[in-house]
Amino acid sequence: MSDRIHTLSGYFHEYQKSVTEPENFWARIADSFHWQKRWDKVLDWDFEGPDVKWFVNAKLNITENIFEKNLFTHGDRTAIIWEPNDPNEEGRKISYRELYEEVCQFANVLKSKGINKGDRVIIYMPMIPEAAVAMLACARVGAIHSVVFAGFSASALADRVNDCEAKAILTADGNFRGNKKIAVKAIVDEALEKSSVETVIVCKRTAQDVEMKDGRDHWWHDCIEGVSTENKAEVVDSEDPLFILYTSGSTGKPKGVVHSTGGYMVYTKYSFENVFQYSPGDIYWCTADIGWITGHSYIVYGPLLAGATSVMFEGVPTFPDAGRFWAVVEKYKVNQFYTAPTAIRALQAHGTDPIEPYNLDSLKVLGSVGEPINEEAWRWYYTHIGQSRCPIVDTWWQTETGGIMVSPIAGITPTKPAYATLPLPGVQLCIVDPEGKELTGNSVEGNLCVKFPWPSMIRTTWGDHDRCKQTYFSTYKGMYFTGDGVKRDHDGYYRILGRVDDVINVSGHRLGTAEVENAINEHPLVIESAVVGYPHEVKGQGIYAYVICDMTNRTEENLVNEIKDTVSKIIGPIAKPDKIQVVSGLPKTRSGKIMRRILRKVAEGATDSLGDTSTLLDPEVVKEIIDGRK
Ligand code: WT7
Repeated sequence: MSDRIHTLSGYFHEYQKSVTEPENFWARIADSFHWQKRWDKVLDWDFEGPDVKWFVNAKLNITENIFEKNLFTHGDRTAIIWEPNDPNEEGRKISYRELYEEVCQFANVLKSKGINKGDRVIIYMPMIPEAAVAMLACARVGAIHSVVFAGFSASALADRVNDCEAKAILTADGNFRGNKKIAVKAIVDEALEKSSVETVIVCKRTAQDVEMKDGRDHWWHDCIEGVSTENKAEVVDSEDPLFILYTSGSTGKPKGVVHSTGGYMVYTKYSFENVFQYSPGDIYWCTADIGWITGHSYIVYGPLLAGATSVMFEGVPTFPDAGRFWAVVEKYKVNQFYTAPTAIRALQAHGTDPIEPYNLDSLKVLGSVGEPINEEAWRWYYTHIGQSRCPIVDTWWQTETGGIMVSPIAGITPTKPAYATLPLPGVQLCIVDPEGKELTGNSVEGNLCVKFPWPSMIRTTWGDHDRCKQTYFSTYKGMYFTGDGVKRDHDGYYRILGRVDDVINVSGHRLGTAEVENAINEHPLVIESAVVGYPHEVKGQGIYAYVICDMTNRTEENLVNEIKDTVSKIIGPIAKPDKIQVVSGLPKTRSGKIMRRILRKVAEGATDSLGDTSTLLDPEVVKEIIDGRK
């Protein structure tokens, strides 16, 4: 545990070292891992390409660092505590040794199905332990997993299956969510109608009826029967992809963010241990879904690499009631609890009664992730959940960054509500003005960039390296651009202000406005649409859609519902617009560009500060839009 930061001066010292001697800094940390072959060079990089390599030519398998390396010391320790959706159903506690055996066994299954190093495997599963087994078994055989959040629609799933040319899909019959039962396998069937995926393995969870296609579909429990629990890990290169995770951007279809193995491994463990100040024996719970990067880095990889006990929760915060999170905290004596502002705000709306029955004394650290946490939610979380004694780590990062970038070190960095505070060691931030000029010193505000590589950074976007370059490395020369606005205050503390591009953050989920518009436009009566985000009390941002449609023989109400269903079908329920306003025209410039600034202002109700509208082709449109505001 020599990589542990214990004091604030220790943090500044480590940070300084990571900037002046980055290669020595990361080599020291990487030395505590098990490599089949050590690296020739710590770092090779060029942000122009971009071409970034960490631990050049090193060979390893990430699962050996979770299992083989540690079985003698903590094989009997609980790796995963699984809490099912229904509190009356019995959960599971899986030790490192048991998880190891399940992973090895399933790795053997994958190999027997012809899945080898470099093959892509889609994981479309509920929050059950087999989902983690699936990810780790892929890593074990060197296959590249791509987890798709099980709330995405068949068409969104099909896009991802096709984009990465997946060889197999690992899924389940159904998914319990609160008092709903979702037919997961049926969605897979629909997604696969036009695809050549060879193998589908189905884990039984809800025991609902499913159709099994001969030759293609197999039951998980049949596959593992009698299969050996011994497996020799495939040796991969440090830069071989570990996984692809699709995420939305400001344009078009979601892109497959590619993370490689060595650097991701080193960074997720290091950041996990330090940010949460995890000590062996602690019970750590992150409420995210494994379909998002938070689940990858801080339910599965980071905690398991650190030998932690990680709670995995199948359900939702409000089932059977708004006290569920706190019931689980009490039940397992959770020490570190990591959730999203949207969940905090949703629970805040239920008041403090649901918290009363539970003992939260085990809590030591609270975490927040996914979107800016407003001061009121921060204070509620601090006072009522943390009993005014637990530090809050507001962790800023992204799918592309792989791990936490800006965050307090729990209990060490003095916190400030709504501030993610300071960068972790190894993270060299840079604030730029719109022209790309670095804004130095404190009390500045601009766009957030990173000017030096960190180990868990994005390497490419699957199948389209140029898109990676254009999206992240071209806006500001020689820098990775995050897409976020930021303020550095007089203390040098960072406060994330939200996206500066056409990305909306709905309940911590990223959606591109163009992606939602494309889905809306699929409705046959929609002629044109424009989507913007607006402040939403619980979700952080809501989706406001302006649509021009053919209203013949339709009531507005019918049409609005049909459009919502269309979006649900094409992307998933999370992308359903909160408000849809039917309009006869959109505010456009003479060159035909939609002036989103105006639409945003109207959506947020700031109709008296629309700014200059003189360049509009038809200023009358704005009046109509204001009058019809939802
Ligand atoms: C975007 C990334 C990686 C965590 C899950 C979301 C916003 C994330 C914070 C925070 C303010 C935050 C940013 C970022 N965001 N964490 N602590 N404070 N904003 O991952 O889907 O890749 O979204 O989420 O806007 O760019 P993601």
